[in-house]
Amino acid sequence: MQFEPVSRPTPRMPHAQTHELPTPVMPKCEARPLLKGQKALVTGASSGIGKSIALALGHAGADVCINYVAGADKAQAMVDELTGHGHSAFAHQADVSKEDQVVAMFDAIRDEFGTVDILINNAGLQQDAPIDQMSLAQWQKVIDVNLTGQFLCAREAVREFKRRGVKPEVSCAAGKIICISSVHEVIPWAGHVNYAASKGGVMLMMKSIAQEVAPFRIRVNSIAPGAIRTPINMQAWDTPEHYAELLKLIPYKRIGEPEEIGRAAVWLASDDSDYVQGTTLFVDGGMTLYPGFETGG
Ligand code: BGC
Repeated sequence: MQFEPVSRPTPRMPHAQTHELPTPVMPKCEARPLLKGQKALVTGASSGIGKSIALALGHAGADVCINYVAGADKAQAMVDELTGHGHSAFAHQADVSKEDQVVAMFDAIRDEFGTVDILINNAGLQQDAPIDQMSLAQWQKVIDVNLTGQFLCAREAVREFKRRGVKPEVSCAAGKIICISSVHEVIPWAGHVNYAASKGGVMLMMKSIAQEVAPFRIRVNSIAPGAIRTPINMQAWDTPEHYAELLKLIPYKRIGEPEEIGRAAVWLASDDSDYVQGTTLFVDGGMTLYPGFETGG
């Protein structure tokens, strides 16, 4: 996508200048082998943010299990892409909201890789509706996948991390869990009460697990993406008009790209962030900074 220079709303304060703002420039970042020899599971890895994270972990040297629930062909394409780059990867189908399927998935990873060092709790979905039209099934589905699914995978990961313990030649930590949350763990979202409730739940689930397992040298953190260019929110960026509306919510004045979440995940899974525990890293171009107050209030 071509980015256009952006202008601000009419200023009411001296800090808000009227002149054109700089055109966004995308960063150039080289992959570094920060995760060499580590084994990772990425849930919901065949599309969107999960796909970018799986590729980034692979390029950082990790072996990756590509979890998916539907679309075996897309999952296989991911495996082919990773193995084509000389990385080790396999695909495993499981619905993360089903206990037996999650337990079987961790068994499959142990069979294939011997253990797991990194869990990326990414699988998630939206089923939007006004509160008075939201069915119990819509509420339950989103809570089941986005919150219960993260719990089930985190529980199996912690069991494996405690069983294996720290292997200093692999990592300072016995294991790392990264929950993919959302800016909506703190920003209320009308018309999406199931989704916002699931992400608010992820926030305190993550922090509570982090507090509990820190002494075992298990690190648990979240990444909270803002608006990232993926199929889940296509209606927010698919036309210039929608995109202009979206930018009103983003002080940094551009949409995020999935690769930017991949890079954050590599850092948070690596020993470079060894002292980071129980925190949410917002990768949102400032969406959580109450942008309405930039020129108002
Ligand atoms: C949602 C997107 C939305 C973004 C910012 C994400 O968690 O999945 O649909 O664009 O938050 O509102």
